[in-house]
Amino acid sequence: MVRMSDRTRLHVGGASPYDVVVGHHVLDELPALLGPDVRRVALLHDGGLDGLSAPVGAALLDGGYEVTTVPLVPAGEASKSYAVAEHCWERLGEAGFTRSDVVVTFGGGATTDVGGFVAATWLRGVRVIHVPTTLLGMVDAAVGGKTGINTGAGKNLVGSFHEPAGVLCDLDLLDSLPRAELVSGLGEVVKCGFIADPEILALVEGSRAQGLSSPVLRELVERAIQVKIDVVVGDLRESGGSDGHPGREVLNYGHTLAHAIERGSDYRTRHGEAVALGMVFVAEVARLTGHLDDETAARHTAVLSGVGLPTQLTPGPDDRLSFVDVLATMRVDKKARGAQLRLVVLDGLARPAILTDPDEQVLRAAYDQVLGASS
Ligand SMILES: NC(=O)c1ccc[n+]([C@@H]2O[C@H](COP(=O)([O-])OP(=O)(O)OC[C@H]3O[C@@H](n4cnc5c(N)ncnc54)[C@H](O)[C@@H]3O)[C@@H](O)[C@H]2O)c1
Ligand SMILES: [Zn+2]
Repeated sequence: MVRMSDRTRLHVGGASPYDVVVGHHVLDELPALLGPDVRRVALLHDGGLDGLSAPVGAALLDGGYEVTTVPLVPAGEASKSYAVAEHCWERLGEAGFTRSDVVVTFGGGATTDVGGFVAATWLRGVRVIHVPTTLLGMVDAAVGGKTGINTGAGKNLVGSFHEPAGVLCDLDLLDSLPRAELVSGLGEVVKCGFIADPEILALVEGSRAQGLSSPVLRELVERAIQVKIDVVVGDLRESGGSDGHPGREVLNYGHTLAHAIERGSDYRTRHGEAVALGMVFVAEVARLTGHLDDETAARHTAVLSGVGLPTQLTPGPDDRLSFVDVLATMRVDKKARGAQLRLVVLDGLARPAILTDPDEQVLRAAYDQVLGASS
């Protein structure tokens, strides 16, 4: 990691290495990242962010590139569709996009996912640079090379691994992000604290009263990205880690219940909120099975509620969130191998492990805790 006053450069090693730049006004790095032989750039941006993305398009035009600007409509999660990907492919075709040209994505995780997928599939793979505009996009979706779209059968079922050529995280872009989206992104940041970097938890705890200052937010983003980099570089294709470490599966901490909550609420619950509830659940499972001490389990609730994330589930009238439904969904979660339920748990702070098929009574008791039905 190289830290300068206005920006930090985090290196991602592996077969196709790249840098993640975090800081203020870092978009000026785009031309250098594009490289010398590029003529055409496709700017695929979240359709709701015309105003925010316009300076990027203008700077590219000023730089002498042929720019094809493609607003992704509908914006947000709904853009992760075959129809939107197809529209992008058609626009690349019209622009005569070749293998030496570059896709730039500009938006949240939905945009980096669908834009990354378009780049992964056009001519079997052209270079892509991600400019994430949400906290979740910065600390999670833009780094690691997973791309994808949704189908009628579920989320992220079609996709590809395609490493970006670079990632630019301009923290100024977060200024317009709705508070609830920022808080949701903090769910993944806190997750990184529990699975690998407890300093993240200390930073969050230390700034609880006055809110997150700009330098603290920057450090949190850098630290969370570093956690993700360390995990994905060790396990690029999700084959599993060595030395008993769960490998990339560790990023799934809190996610098994989170996915069930998201599905059960027809995706009305934000991802980071669902992950917060999932972490409270899995901390309780770990505590009840003797993996985790009381204090570290309780710290989950304290840290998460401290940043404004939910730690108790209040199902709405239409939600399918009974224990029976949730357990059934968890068993078919894509991280469950065969019929076995696999949960990432902590053996202690920053000591992740896999718990296979825990006792159903334990799961029920932990779920009751998330529902606030017992203490
Ligand atoms: N590939 C991966 O490894 C990975 C990891 C985590 C999540 N994801 C994916 O990321 C997606 C979620 O990402 P997200 O939470 O960023 O959601 P998102 O991309 O849908 O953005 C959330 C909302 O914020 C708006 N928005 C984005 N940036 C803004 C800004 N700067 N100012 C104002 N509004 C802004 C968007 O229009 C949208 O309405 C999911 O589809 C998930 O599957 C992928
Ligand atoms: Zn997540």
